[in-house]
Amino acid sequence: MTHPLAEKFSTTFGAQPDLMAQAPGRVNLIGEHIDYSQGFVLPFAIDLYTSVAIRKRNDGIVRIASSQRKQQFETFEITDIKPGYGVGWVKYPLGVLWALEISSGVDIFIDGKVPSGAGLSSSAALECSLAFAINELFHLGRSLKDLALLSQKAENDYVGVPCGIMDQSISLMGKSGFALLIDCSDLSTTLVPLDLTRADLQLLIIDTGVHHALVDGGYAERRASCESAAAKIGVASMRQLSAALLENNQKNLTNSEFMRARHAVTEIARVLETVTKLRESDYLAVGKILNESHRSLRDDYTVSCPESDLVVNTANANGALGARMVGGGFGGSVIALIDRAETGKISIAIEQAFANAGYKPPRFFTSLPSDGASLIN
Ligand code: GLA
Repeated sequence: MTHPLAEKFSTTFGAQPDLMAQAPGRVNLIGEHIDYSQGFVLPFAIDLYTSVAIRKRNDGIVRIASSQRKQQFETFEITDIKPGYGVGWVKYPLGVLWALEISSGVDIFIDGKVPSGAGLSSSAALECSLAFAINELFHLGRSLKDLALLSQKAENDYVGVPCGIMDQSISLMGKSGFALLIDCSDLSTTLVPLDLTRADLQLLIIDTGVHHALVDGGYAERRASCESAAAKIGVASMRQLSAALLENNQKNLTNSEFMRARHAVTEIARVLETVTKLRESDYLAVGKILNESHRSLRDDYTVSCPESDLVVNTANANGALGARMVGGGFGGSVIALIDRAETGKISIAIEQAFANAGYKPPRFFTSLPSDGASLIN
């Protein structure tokens, strides 16, 4: 039987694809806003994937189609593909072709199943599925780390979003059953078993449905604060900073630089502590660390928002072990570590709290740690 994606490809482009690949979205268990400070992060891949079908062409034409768009496809010239060329979402696939320095034409059909705007990294899933597919099709021999860096380059330099390296790394390197401890200074990774089902727990993902306009400027501003704090203290990044060194340098920093740096230093420590507690199956402790991370993101990094705080508070008031906002912030999703038996009760309480506050109903997901990018057979 033909794969539905191959069918969509051939209906659109009149031929079978050469190959198909997929890459997932992610949830970050802990380690927020520290990937661009060379810190540690602990995300896992979720079982929502973006798939892509591609076929090499013998000319210099690039055609891009997506199930999520009405128009049949958009057409580009490979030689024109450089930053500034293309409008809207196609900058993501164009950016990947540019970063991977592809010089031949290609037809691309994209089918995204990672909800966008939910803080689950739909953009990384798109970049990484295409980067993975192109790497195979053109026999580029790039490693998964290289593909992560090139996908990040596409997003930074082509799309113009100053993201870190976490989302692309986990989308490419995720492993079913594990969270991935990523050292963002060199992208070395350690698998950390995450078998919540065995402990009768689950990680509920609550999409607040909120996307505050602050997101883009706010993210860049936080990065800049960390960089200026590091420069004033004389360290390369937040990774080299200790609590004591920060304390000694407080007088040289603005109040906001100090707070941003305090988040970075404490969050890196929380990631390592979480790994220890997970290895000991001490989920009560993990829950507490999630709450501390949320407080730090809310109060020191100031990237939360009333809707995310409401989810965290309501989940905790109804028996969650811990909860925190995930991703860039200013909306997006919250994760709550909960007893599986409490899923219904906690979801209803959150829905009710949102209704009482006059917010749009939130969306609920859950996912076991899943595999990163792969070919689709
Ligand atoms: C976004 C970025 C990541 C990371 C998170 C915050 O998801 O894409 O690189 O910085 O925000 O942890």
